[in-house]
Amino acid sequence: MIINKDKITSKTFIDQVFFFDTIDSTNTYLKELSKKDFKNNTLVVAKNQSKGRGRLSKSFYSPENGLYFSFVFKPKVTIEEIQMLTIIAALAVSKSINKLYNVDSKIKWLNDIYIEDKKICGILCDTVIKNSAQYEFVVVGIGINISEALVIPNDIKDIYGAISNYSSTEVDVNDLIINIINEFSTYKKTEKQSLINEYKSKCLSLNKKVKYNNESYVAYDINSYGHLLLTNGHSKISVNAGEVSLVYED
Ligand code: BTN
Repeated sequence: MIINKDKITSKTFIDQVFFFDTIDSTNTYLKELSKKDFKNNTLVVAKNQSKGRGRLSKSFYSPENGLYFSFVFKPKVTIEEIQMLTIIAALAVSKSINKLYNVDSKIKWLNDIYIEDKKICGILCDTVIKNSAQYEFVVVGIGINISEALVIPNDIKDIYGAISNYSSTEVDVNDLIINIINEFSTYKKTEKQSLINEYKSKCLSLNKKVKYNNESYVAYDINSYGHLLLTNGHSKISVNAGEVSLVYED
C-alpha cells in the first residue's frame, strides 16, 4: 500500500496525512493526538491495526488486507445532530464503493456497509465533548476489507466479506480515500431530510425483524435524527446510536 499524501491533501479538505504500517487504532491515535495538539483536518491511515475498535466497545478485525483510516474535524453541529455525521459517513462510503467498483453496497443500521449478505466496512465516530452543548472535535474512522483475509476469526466468519469478492476492479487506496472524503464533504452540505431519504433507500434494516433488549420488534422507520423506530404491534420505541445492539432475526 502506497499512500500518496500530496494527492490526498491536494484533492480533499485534508491538510496533513500520517501513515503507519501498524498502529493500535487510527481512531485512538488521532483522538489522543488531537486532545494534546488539535490540528483540523488530519488524516491517519494504517495498513493494519493491532487493536482496531468497533462500535459498542467491540474489537474490529484489522489484518493487512484492509484499509483503515480516520480523520478529524470540528463539527458545527449540536449534540442532537451528531448522529447525522455517522449517517453521512455511511452514505459516503457506500456511494464511493458503488461508483468505483460497480457494486451495489447497502447500509445496515447504523453504519455497517454490506454487499449482499457480507459486511465489507465498519465505521466508528468518536467524539470529544467541550461542554454540554458543543463538540470539541469528531474523529471519523473507517475500516474497509479490500481483499479477503487469509485467516477469518470464527465469530465473524458468517458475515465477513471483501470488495475483491464482488469486483474485478483493482482498488487504488488513494482514490478510495479521496472519493470517500469528498463525498463526505458533499453530504455534509446536503439538506437533512434528503440525507435521511437516501439513507432509508439504502438501509437493509428497514422492515426487518430485530431483537432489542431480548424482545422482538420490526424496524419500521428511521426518524429525522437517524434513530431506528421499532414496533412490536402494541408499543413503539426509538433506538439511537447508543449502547444498544440489535440482533437481526432470519
Ligand atoms: C464497527 O464495525 O463496529 C465499526 C468499525 C470501525 C473500524 C474503523 S478502522 C479505522 C478506525 N480505527 C478503529 O480502531 N476503528 C475504526
